[in-house]
Amino acid sequence: VSHGKFLHCLHFCSSNSCAISKVIYTQNNPSYSSVLNASIQNTRFTTPSTPKPLVIVAALQTSHIQSTIFCSKKHGLQIRIRSGGHDFEALSYVSEVPFVILDLLNFRAVKVNVKNEVAWVESGATLGELYYGIASKTKTLAFPAGVCHTVGVGGHFSGGGYGILMRKYGLAADHVMDAQLIDVNGRILDRKSMGEDLFWAIRGGGGNTFGVVLAWKVKLVPVPAVVTVFTVNKNLEQNVIKILHRWQYIGHKLPDDLFTDVTIMKVDSSQEGKKTVQAAFRALFLGGVDELIPLVHGRFPELGLTKKDCLEMSWVESFLYFGGIPTQHLEILLDRNALQRTIFKAKSDYVKEPIPESGFEGIMARFLEKETTVALMMMVAFGGKMGEIPETELPYPHRAGNLFQASYIVGWTNGEDEGKYISWIRRLYSYMAAYASESPREAYINYRDLDIGTNNIGYTSYEQASIWGLKYFKNNLKRLVQVKAMVDPMNFFRNEQSIPPLSFAS
Ligand code: FDA
Repeated sequence: VSHGKFLHCLHFCSSNSCAISKVIYTQNNPSYSSVLNASIQNTRFTTPSTPKPLVIVAALQTSHIQSTIFCSKKHGLQIRIRSGGHDFEALSYVSEVPFVILDLLNFRAVKVNVKNEVAWVESGATLGELYYGIASKTKTLAFPAGVCHTVGVGGHFSGGGYGILMRKYGLAADHVMDAQLIDVNGRILDRKSMGEDLFWAIRGGGGNTFGVVLAWKVKLVPVPAVVTVFTVNKNLEQNVIKILHRWQYIGHKLPDDLFTDVTIMKVDSSQEGKKTVQAAFRALFLGGVDELIPLVHGRFPELGLTKKDCLEMSWVESFLYFGGIPTQHLEILLDRNALQRTIFKAKSDYVKEPIPESGFEGIMARFLEKETTVALMMMVAFGGKMGEIPETELPYPHRAGNLFQASYIVGWTNGEDEGKYISWIRRLYSYMAAYASESPREAYINYRDLDIGTNNIGYTSYEQASIWGLKYFKNNLKRLVQVKAMVDPMNFFRNEQSIPPLSFAS
């Protein structure tokens, strides 16, 4: 591998078109570290021993991307495409083999057409930039994507993307109508020229696999000008286990206009010096408070919801509320640094049968252990639109039959021994095996988890890719490997969990 030759190639192929030198950062460049760290969310991957890219190309024009693909291929370097840098396992900016980051930070235009209820959004934009673009033009259109506004569109849409409008409208990827992609041969393709198989694969089959997606055309969805949110906290002393147990029977059956999730965490108890475990029951209702209260009282009286728990606001404010940003200044949506960066490890599950109360007792006991100063379990009720979309519609297969998606996250501070925290989350995950989906034990690709299996650095068989691939994609994996074989047979776009280009019978 020669990165000198790679750089020479970049300058050569772009000499006629533009000044590519301004967007190339080698390790000698004084801005290299700040460009590298700019969008890293999980600071577990910022240590001196974390493998670093030989070069970062912060492309300004499509020709920069085409040149990066051409020269990386020619000189045997791997590419890692980065949009928002939120990958849980850092696959957009870390690799064990010599590599180049193709950073799409500068591809972040958002164009909203209220009349046609569509938007074009470039991959390097954040969800916050998309929401801001919509909300600054209308209060009654929205987009059903994630709640954390610093997440990048590029990775998020590539893995599905869910948020608080999911029960009403499904995933972000369900609303992609067209896309612009640069393939392994440098061709710029749209839906028509890429064909329906590739267009299907890029809407959920995972990033860094089928090409570089530059931009997405999305269908916006109608929302009322006023929505209602609430949070009700219950802890062990307030019967939380019984309420949680009940929520499992209710959450997925509520009307589509009502989204609920629950976050479990350790908190201080009212008894001094003691800890307890709390569940925060949150909801978004696409309507006013006066309609919501009787609905919740009728379906879920155990929660004891009162009017003072509820707040009316616009849909875009409700995203900030769920994202934990206590402000009504919408400009914060444009701030990529609004959230504190942390060190964490996360995992995910899908639950299809209610967990018995005894099961929740075991979860609570694990949250009372000492490794849980920063630890959460989130349960997001499914049903609604998610139950209506067929499993094969897009690569994301976790649709009907799920009561909720569970995710677990543990954090720690710099300098602490990460082993004990990672071991805690793995123990919780093994405990959850008795209650989660099985054969396969399903997982969400956007909650990347390398514990569930990885590709080899060299050849990976279908059997090996199935270990992690069936968990993320179930039987859609077969179609994904066929599309990959068709569009990138030499497996140029790859990472530890990218689809290998194989016939599934091999
Ligand atoms: P990043 O740039 O790290 O890319 C992720 C993957 O996609 C990498 O493999 C990368 O190479 C590839 N990729 C990126 N851009 C590409 C492009 N243009 N073309 C091809 N491949 C590309 N999820 C969710 O569904 N709902 C939620 O509410 C949240 N909330 C949330 C909060 C926080 C704090 C974090 C850290 C993460 C989430 N997520 C989430 C998960 C999030 O959806 C997931 O991490 C996305 O992949 C992040 O996309 P980025 O572009 O930011 O990541």
